[in-house]
Amino acid sequence: NTGAFTYDPGFTSTASCSSNITYIDGENGRLYHRGYSIEDLAENCDFMEVCYLLLHGELPTRGEKADFESSITYHTMLHEQMLYFFRGFRRDAHPMAVMVGAVGALSAFYHDSTDITDPHQRMVASHRLISKMSTIAAMAYKFSVGQPFIYPRNDLSFSENFLYMTFAVPTEEYKLSPVLARAMDRIFILHADHEQNASTSTVRLAGSSGANPFACIAAGIASLWGPAHGGANQAVLEMLEQIGSKDRVPEFLERAKDKNDPFRLMGFGHRVYKNYDPRAAVLRQSAHDVLDELGKRDDPLLDLAMEMERIALEDEYFVERKLFPNVDFYSGIILKAMGFPMSMFTVLFAVARTVGWVAQWKEMVEDPNQRISRPRQIYTGYGPRDFIPVDQRE
Ligand code: SDX
Repeated sequence: NTGAFTYDPGFTSTASCSSNITYIDGENGRLYHRGYSIEDLAENCDFMEVCYLLLHGELPTRGEKADFESSITYHTMLHEQMLYFFRGFRRDAHPMAVMVGAVGALSAFYHDSTDITDPHQRMVASHRLISKMSTIAAMAYKFSVGQPFIYPRNDLSFSENFLYMTFAVPTEEYKLSPVLARAMDRIFILHADHEQNASTSTVRLAGSSGANPFACIAAGIASLWGPAHGGANQAVLEMLEQIGSKDRVPEFLERAKDKNDPFRLMGFGHRVYKNYDPRAAVLRQSAHDVLDELGKRDDPLLDLAMEMERIALEDEYFVERKLFPNVDFYSGIILKAMGFPMSMFTVLFAVARTVGWVAQWKEMVEDPNQRISRPRQIYTGYGPRDFIPVDQRE
């Protein structure tokens, strides 16, 4: 640890933990994983390389990457008994509800990787979670549209396999698109980890009690589901569809300023970034690339989003409050163009973020000084009072 990044003295008193994995420079809109910038990683790596980096601290050699990738591929199939678990859901269940349930149940099927004190079991659980999340996500989609589950293939990359399990049907040959697979991979990289956000902090808190990794990741999925967090990508699309056309953007920007109006600019603002979210910049370019590839360059949603960003970034109210587009502002436009329904957007965020959750969980449980988290509170209730028997209460 070179100590390359420094913090204001007052900061350390608010920090929930220390970590070597991800550093965010919120003021300058910079994001680093193990010292590598997100721009370099998104441009030069695939998702498996970034997974290896987050888990092990270094970019893999060719041999290390091949071994890691084959281990992840090896774990993509789900225990066949889980198909019955899926069939218990209503068809119209939100895919996030299915994912929370299925991942929480994994410890019932894979109890040979739940002992967190065993390094081998920790590694197996980590790889199982990263790989099975993509299979569970694809199955949640298939179940919601009433199509048969598609088993994973061992000859495909992680992202190709996910797109195959999601969109292939048994009745015709599935055409892999290298551009869509690259776009999917880049989206996974950009959502992989993000320091101590709400869902990662949830995973750490759950894991601090010694709970098994599958249960901890299920807790993280539940936290990510909220519209203020991972659910924002779906909320951005709903917002853009509500606005409908560029000429109505000023009306909605005014509504976002009105404290009495519940309308907020979804995909804008961030607890840490007080500058442009570097992931949003990469996704904005990816949006153009994917829509060009799909022949949808004139997608009205992208035009509307670009217009909204342009006007908001010139508006004193948003500039003063340092409200810039975040990772969720453009991701939904790409995912919709790729054929995903809005209900799957946060599921995809969870597939990507699993490696971050697992890496942060692993870092915590492997810390010899780790103790159960026990946040304290400021008590604002009554002082001590005498008891009142029920017949004397009014
Ligand atoms: C993610 O933590 C992470 O790292 C999360 C994440 C990750 O990778 O894990 O980056 C993923 O969750 C991104 C954020 C996705 N959520 C949204 O896009 C939902 C819309 N954004 C807001 O709900 C909000 O910006 C938050 C929740 C992201 C941050 O909320 P804060 O901390 O309350 O924002 P703030 O304190 O910086 O607000 C400053 C001011 C306030 O107004 P004033 O009281 O000063 O007058 O800006 C206002 C806020 O009311 N404000 C907004 C706004 N966000 C903040 N006003 C209108 N629209 C918004 N989106």
